[in-house]
Amino acid sequence: MSRYIINGGKKLEGEIESDGSKNSVLPILAASLINGNESIIHNIPELKDVHTLSNVLENIGCKVEYNGNTMVINSKGELNTNIPEKPVKEMRSSIILMGAMLGRFKKVMISYPGGCEIGPRPIDLHLMGLKKLGVNITESHGYITCQCDKLIGKEIHLDYPSVGATENIMLAAVSAEGVTIIQNAAREPEIIDLQEFMNKTGANIIGAGSSTIKILGTKKFCNAEHTIIPDRIVAGTFLIAAAITGGTILLKNVLIDHLKPLMSKLTESGCSIEKFENAIKIRGPKRLNAIDIVRTQPYPGFPTDLQAQFMSLTTIAKGTSIIVETVFENRYKHAEELLKMGAKIKIDGRTAIIRGVKELTGARLTAKDLRGGAALVLAGLAAEGITTIDNTDNHIERGYADFDVKLKKLGADITKVDL
Ligand code: EPZ
Repeated sequence: MSRYIINGGKKLEGEIESDGSKNSVLPILAASLINGNESIIHNIPELKDVHTLSNVLENIGCKVEYNGNTMVINSKGELNTNIPEKPVKEMRSSIILMGAMLGRFKKVMISYPGGCEIGPRPIDLHLMGLKKLGVNITESHGYITCQCDKLIGKEIHLDYPSVGATENIMLAAVSAEGVTIIQNAAREPEIIDLQEFMNKTGANIIGAGSSTIKILGTKKFCNAEHTIIPDRIVAGTFLIAAAITGGTILLKNVLIDHLKPLMSKLTESGCSIEKFENAIKIRGPKRLNAIDIVRTQPYPGFPTDLQAQFMSLTTIAKGTSIIVETVFENRYKHAEELLKMGAKIKIDGRTAIIRGVKELTGARLTAKDLRGGAALVLAGLAAEGITTIDNTDNHIERGYADFDVKLKKLGADITKVDL
């Protein structure tokens, strides 16, 4: 187990470069098994989840070479369509292999992915969409077995713009007969990146980024080379780190449009933000202002994956802020940890009421989920005294490459110890 030790109160100053997006690279790695060919993927972030998924690809028969930030996957030949159970339990997003396997082999056996710290994480919308495409699905003993002779393009309406369901249906539909239309599709930038990659392999997909995605099934796929988009959630986390410490950082290699919802709230909280071609300069104020209300929404609304980090910021803002988490059922685990630092937070169902205090004090904390863990780091950076955060290897390192190293480069007094 790893622990972060933070001596708070230092302003962050300097420049930082964004990494490739975790939530883009994972579906694209899964999708690389569809073309039965070579895929060269650049700007791969150095993350535990990436290693977990690339190990699964090797385990089922793909050849995977990984040097620096480039991965070469060759999915030629017969692959094992029984996905090993352990990685699916460890990492929910392995469920994206279901659609990819169906798109390539029209069959797959995969274990039911566990829920995780932020909610039950059902997959009913995934299964509804695949059934519409003609897949026979049986669920027993915790396993899902999918099989069909052929996939038939259909019109599929999602009750909720689920990111994972949109991705799984897209990947199964690329080799269906005829046209598939996904209505009320997720609009996240990572869906656009998946469309771009799949079209480079020979697929015919249009509309990603809008609520209606059309996929014309095809039989022929080819090699592809692709560069993953920057991680908007990691980028947003660093912007909030500058805001909460009253520092000034230049964040390079970002796509400004992906950060609009956060930037408007950071401006409201008193930060000054300068935008360049693909960089943002942020300066935190001496004292942050509270935000009347932040409501998490599917993209292009305020991202649920930045809710915890933003809550840390509001704990020391002047006034009372309200946060409503509309996407996940149980995504306030970080609040009980922030209370140990002197934060004043009341949780009522999906709503959090945060009365800002002048200063947090360091405490012994435990990361309970990925983004909640990052939120505790941000609070520790701003707090007076020493904060320790346990369980960072199980959570924070899954989604943040060298988080401690990057923060130290910006002037934070942070050390990682392995216990
Ligand atoms: C993706 O998860 C991201 N993960 C999550 O990021 C992100 O929070 C989420 O999208 C929302 O933006 C990856 O891309 C790997 P959803 P996903 O399906 O696909 C309900 C992070 O921190 N739902 O859009 O699982 C579900 O319960 C992670 O990087 C159903 O009811 O999210 C949730 O309440 C956390 N039935 C809501 O929809 C379904 O079949 C949004 O889930 C599917 C989802």
